[in-house]
Amino acid sequence: MELRDKFERVIDYMRISITDRCNLRCVYCMPDKGVKLFEHKDILRYEEIVRVVSIAASLGVRKIRITGGEPLIRRNLSFLIASIKTTHAIEDISLTTNGVLLEKYAGELADTGLNRVNISLDTLRPDRYSEITRGGDIAPVLKGIEAAEKAGLLPVKINMVPIRYLNDDEIADFARMTLTTPRHVRFIEFMPIGSRDLWSDERYISTDELKKTAEKIAPLTPVRLRKNGPAKYFRFEGAPGVIGFISALTHHFCGDCNRLRLTADGKLRPCLFSETEIDLKPALRKQSSDKEIERLLRLAIQVKPEGHNIDQRDDLSSLKNMSRIGG
Ligand code: GTP
Ligand code: 5AD
Ligand code: SF4
Repeated sequence: MELRDKFERVIDYMRISITDRCNLRCVYCMPDKGVKLFEHKDILRYEEIVRVVSIAASLGVRKIRITGGEPLIRRNLSFLIASIKTTHAIEDISLTTNGVLLEKYAGELADTGLNRVNISLDTLRPDRYSEITRGGDIAPVLKGIEAAEKAGLLPVKINMVPIRYLNDDEIADFARMTLTTPRHVRFIEFMPIGSRDLWSDERYISTDELKKTAEKIAPLTPVRLRKNGPAKYFRFEGAPGVIGFISALTHHFCGDCNRLRLTADGKLRPCLFSETEIDLKPALRKQSSDKEIERLLRLAIQVKPEGHNIDQRDDLSSLKNMSRIGG
């Protein structure tokens, strides 16, 4: 079984945000005053998520990514991972985390079936980490990365959002990490979503500029990786790690988009940048049949837009809640 949208894209990847809460307050993600949070009753229960996953899997979804907010702050995540694991069609379960709690959970999550982790880290300097995350401590994150590697949650991917005047002087340091470790270091273009406190055209750094900065260290050659999603990968000759660029603004990768998102409160979101949402929660809570859930999943894929045009839009207010959508 394969799910195809109107533009012949095969949809086999679902990103599931399991909480909108977070133990950090990154300046580019959340406004200073915080964001309005869902109430407990609004959030899908694990059993409800597992039901959606199993129906999605019967239609052709093969990869699941758990996101947040910060997914590791939701209790008993291992239960969810283990339950998803029993859905045989699911081939890959991954997690996007800020890494703060990873040291504690890496081993347990790997044992229950998590395949790999992507960790958000925007600086290697403790004082700056505290500034960017509004009070976070970098030490547990660095330990968490090592714990993930030890637990075999591979490849460990590091997501860095380079922002001018904030951390752009560390781009080379992150790139150099791939010379000594097998990590996938990915630079994500700063996007005008999440908190708008910080956004300005001037602070945005394009992939072309990022790549030039990295190439001052040594030439980069393209690498073809299987299942590589929106990132384009390169390598320094002989390096164990690779460098990825996620160019949300400059290079549209929408043509290959294979994903569907589920927000913590049960809304299917066909595209990160479109406000169109399909609410699954009423159907889940009304004990609707699997056929009805299937219909809603198919509908979400039917209305998946061909692409985004955020670079041409003025009003991005609907995209404020990055911590709800999960990136
Ligand atoms: P892999 O399966 O490991 O390649 O995961 P990923 O890169 O899709 O996941 P991750 O959660 O690490 O996402 C990294 C960044 O890419 C986040 O900032 C996301 O917002 C961004 N991203 C992921 N998917 C999309 C997408 O469909 N469109 C856009 N524009 N950005 C995306
Ligand atoms: N621009 C780019 N990336 C962002 N993320 C959160 N907000 C933004 C933004 N405005 C990233 C985080 C994390 C991923 C899930 O989304 O750094 O790596
Ligand atoms: Fe939390 Fe991630 Fe947003 Fe930072 S980017 S505040 S870690 S949800």
